[in-house]
Amino acid sequence: MTGAPSETRLARPPVRAAIVELLSHMRDGKEIREYLNRFSELDQERFAVIKVGGAIIEDQLEDLARALAFLQSVGLAPIVVHGGGPQLNAALEAAGFPEERIDGLRITSPDAMGAVRDTLTAVNVKLVQAIRDQGGRAASIPSGVFEAELVDEARLGRVGEPSAVRLDLVAAAAKAGQAPILGCLGDTADGRLVNVNADSAVRALVGQLQPYKIVFLTGTGALLDEAGGPISTVNLATDFDELMAQDWVAGGMRLKLQEIKRLLDGLPLSSSVSITRPDQLAKELFTHAGAGTLVRKGERIDEVTDLTALDQDRALALIAESFGRPVKPGYFDRLDFDRAFVTENYRAAAITARLGDTVYLDKFAVLDAARGEGLGGAVWKRLVAYAPRLYWRSRRDNPINEFYFAVCDSAIKRGEWTVFQRGESDLSRLPALAEEIAGLPASLEDI
Ligand code: ARG
Repeated sequence: MTGAPSETRLARPPVRAAIVELLSHMRDGKEIREYLNRFSELDQERFAVIKVGGAIIEDQLEDLARALAFLQSVGLAPIVVHGGGPQLNAALEAAGFPEERIDGLRITSPDAMGAVRDTLTAVNVKLVQAIRDQGGRAASIPSGVFEAELVDEARLGRVGEPSAVRLDLVAAAAKAGQAPILGCLGDTADGRLVNVNADSAVRALVGQLQPYKIVFLTGTGALLDEAGGPISTVNLATDFDELMAQDWVAGGMRLKLQEIKRLLDGLPLSSSVSITRPDQLAKELFTHAGAGTLVRKGERIDEVTDLTALDQDRALALIAESFGRPVKPGYFDRLDFDRAFVTENYRAAAITARLGDTVYLDKFAVLDAARGEGLGGAVWKRLVAYAPRLYWRSRRDNPINEFYFAVCDSAIKRGEWTVFQRGESDLSRLPALAEEIAGLPASLEDI
């Protein structure tokens, strides 16, 4: 090891220390390592684009800088794009340019451009400095990335829509081991500075880089449901139309969902969007449960009522991988098949059988790689909508039991099995059904 460059030797202890710190705060070290490996394997230019609103830089600067410096210390290199709305409002107001908007876009008179440039540059430098204060390395890139066209000079003034993204400065920063911190000052072909909306800038960057993750850091840190609680996952393929039909999905949330759909439509299926807060970023990225809202393009869920319409080989492969062992030969021949809810790529499935007039969940399988996506949850939702009265069983050591206990109405232990039910209105049927279900032959191979 004598020939190892000093850089490598210097870089190691802080990385390990950082991981240890992270692990000590979180429950599942295995999960964290898996995500860390998954993210590290990516070409780092395509790991993540993180959008930071201007308000976060005002209100949560230290948490933000710490979170970004942390990612760098574990070897991850996201590209950060920030806005500066509140700062611009204040600065322009003070300089005698009151806020005026058309269709949500700020009118920027050429006279105000000097103040816009100075303010956005100051915001950028403030973030870079805060990251350095947390021991991170960051490069200030307030302009020079977004080539823009004037949207409507006569009405809006110096407001630009990105027409191209120049990555030279980003690449140079990355090469020097610095996190690129981008501001949204664009420039036109003839060299005039323009104000670019941060969401448009993110869209242009994402279109070009095709990142694995897009992260929106916001004050709320999640999309909120009707009751004001955070929505953990959104699977666009199954949820988008339904959400758009709700009257509580209004205003900013509607726009945000549409914007996210537009972003993900141009990306591979594996990409996802997370909405979270700076102080929750590590938990969101490195655990299955996350902290915030995860939005994926997702997969369609098919309801299969005829066994011949099921791709049995793929279903068997899914079960084998999910349970860590295959089913015994002839599984489908012995099954009194009722139906299957299966995602289009066979990454999650629920298979039900008939026990008299009772729907019995025989297999619920989710690929390890699909955990954290909300795919299992989406299948479960379809299953219980179909079978409000449902029985199933599980072995003591099944890691999914925590979920089963949370969603069941009752659980009865019978030998090596726990028999669960939800939606049973006639509780006098419970003992006999529990006996029958616990007595069903095992369908998985022994290990
Ligand atoms: N850590 C994973 C990711 O970043 C899963 C996050 C799950 N988040 C959630 N809000 N449900 O892709």
